[in-house]
Amino acid sequence: MNQDSLLRIRDLTKDEIMGILKDAQLFGVSHKDWQLPQRKLVANLFFEPSTRTHYSFASAEHQLGCMVENFSAQGSSVEKGESLYDTVRTFESIGYEALVIRHPKDEYFRELENIRIPIINAGDGAGNHPTQCLLDLLTIYQEFGKFEHIRMAIIGDISHSRVAASNKEAMELLGGECVFSGPAQWQREGYPHMDVDAAIEWADVVMMLRIQHERHATSMQMSKADYLQQYGLTKERAARMKSHAIILHPAPVNRNVEIDSDLVEAPNSRIFKQMSNGVLVRKAVIKRAFGAEFEGGQ
Ligand code: CP
Repeated sequence: MNQDSLLRIRDLTKDEIMGILKDAQLFGVSHKDWQLPQRKLVANLFFEPSTRTHYSFASAEHQLGCMVENFSAQGSSVEKGESLYDTVRTFESIGYEALVIRHPKDEYFRELENIRIPIINAGDGAGNHPTQCLLDLLTIYQEFGKFEHIRMAIIGDISHSRVAASNKEAMELLGGECVFSGPAQWQREGYPHMDVDAAIEWADVVMMLRIQHERHATSMQMSKADYLQQYGLTKERAARMKSHAIILHPAPVNRNVEIDSDLVEAPNSRIFKQMSNGVLVRKAVIKRAFGAEFEGGQ
């Protein structure tokens, strides 16, 4: 496996995370037009649906001067039974220099240890979503200027969420605190649990999660309206957030299920800011994958 791959947050040190966030911030201010010193050929391989991750990677790659191909399993030799490894090895063999991959299998990248080009994990099953976590961290850092003692409440379908897992690892590494809330059957063992009302009042960062129906073996036995009242961010609950607290959501949002639709663009919501930050973080991750440096080694 290429050492410049990004597979899981836990593979990064605190300094590496802070380095990626620093580069992402520079991309947002003084280095908006910076491009890689050589044009690179990259492909985005999405075996699961995506809007934000897929197209913010594509945006980042184009902005960095890459040549970009977007692979769809539909219409490819995956439909003839080709394995993930053989698909990825093919992209490597025909000249691609880095791959962004989303796949429904937890830690799919374990099958790709012989691949030499950098792989950037754009989400594996219910396992990891490192670039989503990094853009969440950037959004928190822009707000509070630190991670130490920042309290994050992650509420909803925790057990099927790669975002919850990645953020727990990151916040613990960086000195923040994480609690988890939502329906008991969707909590994870070893994750500190707090009642939803208490969590919302306790937190500096309230992250709401979508119910990941596509990963559920059985359908939810609760109406959308009941879910919102019992576990969602209603206007009444939002009014009890700390005055400085912010709302995050990795999106896509199911309006009026996990969050009242009117709160999605409330003054303390950073949901669309997260998406803009996604491009900056992904530029930083691609820069890292190619071992590129800003002029002057900044
Ligand atoms: N947050 C996120 O991963 O969104 P997409 O599934 O649209 O990429």
